[in-house]
Amino acid sequence: MTTWTPQSWRKLPIQQQPHYQDQQLLAQVEQQLHKYPPLVFAQETRDLFSQLGQVAEGKGFLLQGGDCAESFNDFNAPKIRDTFKVLMQMAVVLTYAGGLPVVKVARMAGQYAKPRSSDLETLNGVSLPSYRGDIVNSFEFTEQARQPDPNRLVTAYHHSAATMNLLRAFAQGGLADLHQVSAWNMGFVASNPLKERYQSVATRIQEALRFMEICGITAQNSPSIRETQLYTSHEALLLNYEEALTRRDSLTGKWYDCSAHMVWIGERTRQLDHAHVEFFRGIHNPIGVKVGPGMQPDDLIRLIDALNPENTPGRLTLITRMGADKLADKLPALVRRVKQEGRKVVWSSDPMHGNTVKASNDYKTRDFEAILREIRHFFAVHKAEGTHAGGIHLEMTGEHVTECTGGAYGLSENDLSSRYFTQCDPRLNADQVLELAFLIADTLSLARK
Ligand code: PEP
Ligand code: CO
Repeated sequence: MTTWTPQSWRKLPIQQQPHYQDQQLLAQVEQQLHKYPPLVFAQETRDLFSQLGQVAEGKGFLLQGGDCAESFNDFNAPKIRDTFKVLMQMAVVLTYAGGLPVVKVARMAGQYAKPRSSDLETLNGVSLPSYRGDIVNSFEFTEQARQPDPNRLVTAYHHSAATMNLLRAFAQGGLADLHQVSAWNMGFVASNPLKERYQSVATRIQEALRFMEICGITAQNSPSIRETQLYTSHEALLLNYEEALTRRDSLTGKWYDCSAHMVWIGERTRQLDHAHVEFFRGIHNPIGVKVGPGMQPDDLIRLIDALNPENTPGRLTLITRMGADKLADKLPALVRRVKQEGRKVVWSSDPMHGNTVKASNDYKTRDFEAILREIRHFFAVHKAEGTHAGGIHLEMTGEHVTECTGGAYGLSENDLSSRYFTQCDPRLNADQVLELAFLIADTLSLARK
């Protein structure tokens, strides 16, 4: 293996990249970003690393979620706040009902680059470059909008910085105070069957807080009641951007990708001898890799060894995304092999990307039932193999969108058109996410018995 540098990925083949026409402008933008402040501090990244180490040992649960793709146009405080709140609600339900500490990682503040199934999109006989996320080009179907523009790297940086700023303010400024738990139930309308269940969890938490206060443990003297830690993550697909934000930590001398606390490699770019694996092997962040139904046990071990040669718990999260009908068949061999070989990983379930279907009215959607079924199989496999089902990775939003069918309100294909806003994949809405949280919490507490 050759020496790693933040640039060493450039010598290797790479998939899923835009074709920039103005290479000089791209180089200028990279230089500019290189001088900008990092978005996260390496010590925070190390804290997440050690918490994920606990998850790998079965002592915690990873909750990762957010948009499929963040967008420059749809960029505002209510949207960030609502997704933050739903993540917190989910975390409360999972912690309380599941009985494990929950590590919270947002798919936010940098989720701007998307892999696509084809380089070109054809509409009415016209072919244009595919939309690759707002960091690359624009969603509208015009020649100009679809041209990759290097200036978008800087715009993505500023949007990420502003999002991160607000998330930090919410996490530490009181919005996540456990005393607020019952006020967070904005996702529910009166008819939701889960409203009472959520309120009952909230009431029991308030009682516990009152008891603790009598014993002298208050929000004033115990910050963990008042504050939370929410980490950020995204798919590090556009390596020009990631390289520019990769910095050597002055305390340890190690390299960190400071665009987010955690970054992951997508299903389409995890080839062992390609650029993404090369880039990821040298950064010291906790990292993820998507694992689809085609993964073979031997290849998985090779990939694990390339990315986590020292077998450090917390370094590597394997995010399985196989589809509800395939997971029970494909996952056991992988889990068994990783366990046999003593590799320490966090196993997390992405029940979204293997369950995308086209509705009869052409909308890209996912059915709640399939999502839940993949999660249940995921837990069942880990229970059978004696391993820890360590986390969940969701595409979700705090908004009341209608992008996934099913759930307590029984959204049908005909409902999809009413509030279908995603720029990429269909997301669970606030009600569906919370419903899922209760169902996962039940499964989690059962699995631990
Ligand atoms: C995603 O997480 O948005 C994604 C594209 O996933 P995958 O790489 O698993 O297809
Ligand atoms: Co997606």
